[in-house]
Amino acid sequence: MKTQKNITTIVAITIGLTLGIGVAQANEQIKAPAKAITITGKKPVKFNHTSHLELGIACAECHHDQQHNPRTAETIGALPDSGILQCATCHNSDFTNPKLQKRKIIFHTNCKTCHEAGLNGKKGPTKCSSCHIKKKRKAIEGC
Ligand code: HEC
Ligand code: HEC
Ligand code: HEC
Ligand code: HEC
Repeated sequence: MKTQKNITTIVAITIGLTLGIGVAQANEQIKAPAKAITITGKKPVKFNHTSHLELGIACAECHHDQQHNPRTAETIGALPDSGILQCATCHNSDFTNPKLQKRKIIFHTNCKTCHEAGLNGKKGPTKCSSCHIKKKRKAIEGC
């Protein structure tokens, strides 16, 4: 009797775990981070996906693949790992186009071009300190 009860428990746990994993996998679809992220480099920046998505900006405005084809919410959702979205996985010192190796160039081209031009009449911030996190005491170099 006792063994049977144990087996039933094990079966129940196994089914529970399987269902649990199933749910977890469905939720694992990669989505834009809801909270602000920090773009980490020598001059870190806080970036808020939500505020940008609310402006109607598509993922593809910033995310593309190795052929420079746009990445959509769907293709991003289906990625096995979100790490490939990190700009430096491609834009590093090995990148084929030497003009697009430096973080300053790729981020400023992406972020500042739109902020300067504006979107539906709304301009984005262009002052160094409006994007770059202020360091305590020491002023940001180059500003
Ligand atoms: C619209 C937002 C934005 C503005 C405005 C901006 N930057 Fe940046 N910048 C970024 C982002 C994002 C990065 C990538 C973060 C990093 O690499 O630390 C970056 C990277 C850099 C880097 C390269 C850091 C590295 O890791 O190699 C330098 C240098 C830099 N910015 C200087 C400046 C200066 C100087 C100004 C003002 C004239 C400025 N930035 C204004 C967004 C901005
Ligand atoms: C205005 C530009 C912009 C838009 C629009 C945008 N992203 Fe991002 N996203 C970024 C930047 C910049 C990063 C940080 C990349 C880095 O650190 O190199 C990032 C990072 C991410 C990450 C985290 C990657 C990781 O694991 O480090 C995910 C997931 C993501 N984006 C998904 C999305 C999805 C889905 C959409 C559309 C619904 C979207 N993004 C729209 C600029 C954008
Ligand atoms: C999977 C590889 C890959 C990743 C990840 C990637 N890029 Fe690119 N990127 C490319 C390729 C390929 C090109 C086209 C190169 C050329 O035209 O010489 C390009 C071109 C660019 C350009 C110049 C053309 C344009 O659109 O203005 C910018 C700026 C740029 N990327 C910014 C980014 C930013 C910002 C991120 C991160 C949010 C990022 N890239 C992530 C591969 C990548
Ligand atoms: C396609 C246009 C576009 C791109 C690309 C874009 N932004 Fe913006 N961003 C805006 C606009 C427009 C605003 C002003 C929103 C407002 O005033 O309500 C803004 C606002 C901001 C703000 C102010 C606070 C906030 O989140 O609303 C920061 C910081 C910022 N952007 C950082 C960045 C960084 C860093 C990047 C590149 C990774 C970037 N943006 C790319 C259009 C853009």
